[in-house]
Amino acid sequence: MLDKVNELILEVKAFKANSKEEVESFRIKYLGSKGILKDLFGEFKNVENSLKKEIGQALNNLRSAATDKVNELKDAFESATESQSSYGDLTRPAEPIPLGARHPISIVKNRIVEVFNRIGFTISEGPEIEDDWHNFTALNLPEYHPARDMQDTFFIEKNPDLLLRTHTSSVQTRYMENNTPPIRTLSPGRVFRNEDISARSHCIFHQIEGLYIDTDVSFADLKQTLLYFTKEMFGKSKIRLRPSFFPFTEPSAEVDIYWGLETETDYKITKGTGWLEIMGCGMVDPNVLKNANIDPTKYSGYAFGMGIERIAMLLYQIPDIRMFYENDVRFLEQFKSVL
Ligand code: PHE
Repeated sequence: MLDKVNELILEVKAFKANSKEEVESFRIKYLGSKGILKDLFGEFKNVENSLKKEIGQALNNLRSAATDKVNELKDAFESATESQSSYGDLTRPAEPIPLGARHPISIVKNRIVEVFNRIGFTISEGPEIEDDWHNFTALNLPEYHPARDMQDTFFIEKNPDLLLRTHTSSVQTRYMENNTPPIRTLSPGRVFRNEDISARSHCIFHQIEGLYIDTDVSFADLKQTLLYFTKEMFGKSKIRLRPSFFPFTEPSAEVDIYWGLETETDYKITKGTGWLEIMGCGMVDPNVLKNANIDPTKYSGYAFGMGIERIAMLLYQIPDIRMFYENDVRFLEQFKSVL
């Protein structure tokens, strides 16, 4: 019997299982109520007293070997299933991570900024609630000047000196106060005008304005910069400048780009002319320089300004300006692929 028990111990130690089920039947085979150990202990009763000690020890060894084996294998299978559930099926195709999208206004603003960054313009920002001086007076728009009516203004009732800025030219006023030429700055930001809301206009929109001041800046520099911009931004290389009026620039011009008349939409957005107005510009009025303590006999400069919504509507063929502010996910999701 001793030999048999020792053989069984070796067998138990060498046992390997491929599944939980195999471990279970192994347990039943050795440790179950009708198992091998039960039988052996039954036989043990008939063993001669002189052999009882040795065989008894061997039986105990067999029992603990079997118990250890079962526990060891059970643990192994359990940790295997645990790690399986935490990693999942590694061969399964990945689930898409829902990505956000940048707002089209940010996309277009970043692109404009990037184009002007390349020729040395840096960004400046200012407050949305502005005082009269920075938004109007310093820009050659004294009180009661009729040109103030060009931009319907939201005033702050409690303090008539305060208003919501009607253009980001106010940031340029501040920049000129705090910096000396040469100045090359770009001011993007939100502006406010008391206008009826429609598909084409809104009371809140975004502008980006540029200001360049140095010695010997000429209208040719302005035109060349605008040409560079339209080429980089729209891939169009034909522009025209129409005489216009802004109180803060003299001479002033409206910039049109030749968009072309290739598709039906081209006809629609250019009203059949092929030309599209994209911004206002001009040479900084000497009065504006004087107001900022910059000597107009020594320095000259140009400025330009455009509406970001308008450019975005052109680039993405967006028919209604209100779509920018409704935050309809179906609209916003369409800009996922653009950086
Ligand atoms: N500030 C002008 C506007 O809001 C745009 C502009 C800027 C025009 C600079 C000329 C020069 O309409």
